Amino acid sequence: MSKKVFLIRREALEPGQVRKVETERCPLAVYNVDGTFYATSDICTHATASLSDGEIVDGDLIACPLHDGQFHIPTGQAMAFPCTVDLRTYRVIEEGDEIFADLDEESEAAASAI
Ligand code: FES
Repeated sequence: MSKKVFLIRREALEPGQVRKVETERCPLAVYNVDGTFYATSDICTHATASLSDGEIVDGDLIACPLHDGQFHIPTGQAMAFPCTVDLRTYRVIEEGDEIFADLDEESEAAASAI
């Protein structure tokens, strides 16, 4: 199954930035990591912080703004205490200047990491 939703226009998110995007199912965090776009759940798995209020650090990690836990953006893997539960990722689809996510599929990096 496939549930494709529009996220953002490419030029609206510079490299190194993260932005919250509401969808009909849940809020997503959308990232531009050196020109590659990724999407994860916006809610930290440790508590209820919005990861889009955090910062991209060390290239491709998102640091949670509340307790400084970290996740690997491409795979959603929890990387730093107190985060121990991986983050849900979503497959990103790029069509010209427009960035979409498939809410029914995880990212290719997460899928191939299993
Ligand atoms: Fe994110 Fe605690 S809410 S690390």
